[in-house]
Amino acid sequence: MKSEARLDTVRLQGLARAFIGSASLFAAIDLKLFTAVAAGHDTVEGFAGYAGIQPIHAQRLMTMCAALGLLRHDNGRYANAPDVGRFLVEGEGSYAGDWLLFNRPDWADWGRLTGLMRSEESPRLLSPMYESMTVERARDYHRATSSIGFGAARRFVRSVDLSARRRLMDIGGGSGAYSIVSAQTWPGLEAVVCDLPPVVVVTREFIEQHGVGDRVRAQACDFTRDPFPEGCDAAVMASNLPQYGPDVIQAVIGKAHAALLPGGEMHLVGEMLDDDGNGPVDAALWGLNEVLLGSTGVAHTRAECIGYFEAAGFREVRVDEFIPGILARVSGRK
Ligand SMILES: C[S@@+](CC[C@H](N)C(=O)[O-])C[C@H]1O[C@@H](n2cnc3c(N)ncnc32)[C@H](O)[C@@H]1O
Repeated sequence: MKSEARLDTVRLQGLARAFIGSASLFAAIDLKLFTAVAAGHDTVEGFAGYAGIQPIHAQRLMTMCAALGLLRHDNGRYANAPDVGRFLVEGEGSYAGDWLLFNRPDWADWGRLTGLMRSEESPRLLSPMYESMTVERARDYHRATSSIGFGAARRFVRSVDLSARRRLMDIGGGSGAYSIVSAQTWPGLEAVVCDLPPVVVVTREFIEQHGVGDRVRAQACDFTRDPFPEGCDAAVMASNLPQYGPDVIQAVIGKAHAALLPGGEMHLVGEMLDDDGNGPVDAALWGLNEVLLGSTGVAHTRAECIGYFEAAGFREVRVDEFIPGILARVSGRK
């Protein structure tokens, strides 16, 4: 008789306590552990002195970070793991700590997820988070999104060719990363970043900072109800897919199709579920995150996204990997 693999609780225990891993990462970022290690404060005593904490706490945190694979311990000295060295050492252009702390303010709400799901309150089309958005909040929000958004935008310009395009609409463009990098890449391209009124104030700051104000502008637009800019032959919508349900996404893609010039192209970059519904976690996680935000947002599968494009009238619809396990890109031509 074939022996079945013995089951144990190791995986489940890991999941049940995964939040302690998050807490450890947050504390390490707060205390600048990885910056300290990169600067040579790479022992327990060295880091304790750098951070102004007791050596016993430094030792506990460094031990945990080594166990999580964030640090590598060797004979009393610690070194940053390669991704930590690249993205979590302050002062580097690639620093992404703001993005890694992005969900931390929701910590307490995640602890009461069950209660939130039992709420009788109807989900809202535009999350209350967006309804109450201020310029200050948008500035913090996009300090975080831009710390990875510009990297994603550089990947975008390597994945698509907009060299023959004249005008790009960037739907829910936030920091304007995709438009700014596209304009820097293709000198003949103009771009219009569409986002909510408090956000476009911040978008304009990014546009100015990157010196592309002659070709990139920002337009206040709630994409659930306002018209889209005219005269565009390309459109991109990135990283807001699970914030809305199928009806809204279908309507937005239909509106983009109607606004695009004939022959124009659209790219939807988003966290998409595999068609069998078994992950990836990131897509499921952002869908679940909408419980906290009180919206109608859900995770969408790749097939559903292709369906939105086809129903809108796009042709040559296809899906490509964008950041494996995180983002996929669906594209189509009018
Ligand atoms: C996670 S950010 C992504 C920003 C940018 N596309 C990027 O990839 O860096 C999501 C953006 O969608 C915008 N957004 C969400 N709902 C919107 C709506 N109804 N109308 C316009 N923008 C919206 C948000 O304000 C935010 O800037």
